Amino acid sequence: MNTFTARAVTGASPDLVAALTEIHRKSFPPNMQFADAPRYFEEALDDEGNLNILLQDQTGTVLGYLLAIPQSLVFEELRQWDPEMQDDPERLYLEMIQVLPEQRGSKLGLRLIQRVCAEAEKRNIFNLSMHARTTTGWSEYLRRIFAEVRFLRQLENWYGFCEPFDYLEATTTLRTTVNTGESLLAATAGAVA
Ligand SMILES: CC(C)(COP(=O)(O)OP(=O)(O)OC[C@H]1O[C@@H](n2cnc3c(N)ncnc32)[C@H](O)[C@@H]1OP(=O)(O)O)[C@@H](O)C(=O)NCCC(=O)NCCS
Repeated sequence: MNTFTARAVTGASPDLVAALTEIHRKSFPPNMQFADAPRYFEEALDDEGNLNILLQDQTGTVLGYLLAIPQSLVFEELRQWDPEMQDDPERLYLEMIQVLPEQRGSKLGLRLIQRVCAEAEKRNIFNLSMHARTTTGWSEYLRRIFAEVRFLRQLENWYGFCEPFDYLEATTTLRTTVNTGESLLAATAGAVA
């Protein structure tokens, strides 16, 4: 049986940067890929203020990744795409999440979210924000798994991706049904839409 580990890491290595770049290339459509992905991941991993979450299998192969950045450090840049972005020193912005296509649908994305919530709480941060893709069902999924989540707005052309993204704010608490491993379907969409 496959076992997976999600953990927080700091510090870039050439192998890790290469692995994340490869997942990025496979995960996102070409118009959503970063022009200089290796540098993006290197800088993200080297910044101790960030939360870098790695999802690996028992052999150490990296299957997924989540990057969270303090909202105070990103809101100004993001305002060009979402003018309503606010400074919030007590909020962590979920900047990117990616799972290898062949591994999707096995709740690895959920494992990354669970781990970032736990790590944020260790830093005494209990508020999250995110721009989530709508066309893939990801935004809807996030609204199902967080216990307290608010949909604030939709951006039609987020980041020039020509795709709608939802701006969501949530606390780090996940629905009990998620944590106990019960069917996610049981966690009905009680979230505010
Ligand atoms: C979004 C992503 C990280 C989810 O990873 P995952 O391991 O499949 O996530 P989980 O198994 O925990 O959850 C699956 C849910 O994610 C949603 N989802 C979003 N994109 C998906 C995709 N490409 N394939 C499968 N499910 C996807 C589905 O709604 C699914 O819900 P369901 O199980 O009720 O059908 C992964 O699909 C991915 O890397 N996508 C491409 C990059 C991306 O779009 N990132 C998010 C940008 S906001």
